[in-house]
Amino acid sequence: MHTNPVTSNFVADITGVDIKSLTDEEFDEIYQTWLTFGVVRIRDQQLNEDELQAFSARFGPLEKIPLGRLPESERAKIKNLYVTQLSNIIVDGKPIGGLGNAEANWHSDMTYVDNPPPASVLLSIEIPDEGGDTYFADQIAALEAMPEELISRVETLTIKHDAAHTSIGKLRPGFEPFDDPRHAPGAEHSIVRTHPETGKPALYLGRREWAYIPEIALDASESLLDEIWSYAALPENVWQQKWQPFDLIIWDNRRVLHRRDDFDQNSRRLMKRCQVLSK
Ligand code: SIN
Repeated sequence: MHTNPVTSNFVADITGVDIKSLTDEEFDEIYQTWLTFGVVRIRDQQLNEDELQAFSARFGPLEKIPLGRLPESERAKIKNLYVTQLSNIIVDGKPIGGLGNAEANWHSDMTYVDNPPPASVLLSIEIPDEGGDTYFADQIAALEAMPEELISRVETLTIKHDAAHTSIGKLRPGFEPFDDPRHAPGAEHSIVRTHPETGKPALYLGRREWAYIPEIALDASESLLDEIWSYAALPENVWQQKWQPFDLIIWDNRRVLHRRDDFDQNSRRLMKRCQVLSK
């Protein structure tokens, strides 16, 4: 098993490993590499949903798919309650997964809950010829790029993270629309957070849309958020993943933001994802 840095500081490829027959020693190495780099890619892993679940569960307990108001007939079609499909594919008039073919803006997963998932595990199954690339932005580097004066202005402040909208801007079922970020429901987290496992400070922004800094007035919050976000995804701190089928990527939501390009609705894209909860 080999670790090959893809960028000097925050993305690594791991080669020479078969996730289906992973030893504890190999998993420990993957885990340490994930902590060190924040994004780990392991190519050519033809995992079924149960194998993806088993691998992801080595990082910690997994989030169950929120079934919400899904009718019983639809629930019965879900094969694995810990594996979410992201897809634009339509079967019998219904999408088989979330997000469709839309662009997803920069975000970190589920920051609107009190204990957001540390790890997300994403496996590509079908990939369009063009578009649908996923990008990652290192939030340690983002913080380091900020002027000292800005860091000292924000390091005692928090952001209230909007739970009502998805990363493609859609209102989630069960939420009422609103037009003022102060009314967005969701958890508050410090803007600068110390990583609980590595001890390294990083920006923790969630997503820009509907965010609010509750310690200050709305106008001031909007302009301060814009100022902070101008450092969040500087080109030198962003890496673009061009997917091949059966790429497995594990990222650390406490360390990186991610976003995704849109793609042609006439092409097919299917991804499978597990969210790892705090231990
Ligand atoms: C996401 O988690 O935002 C989607 C990533 C992707 O579909 O590549």
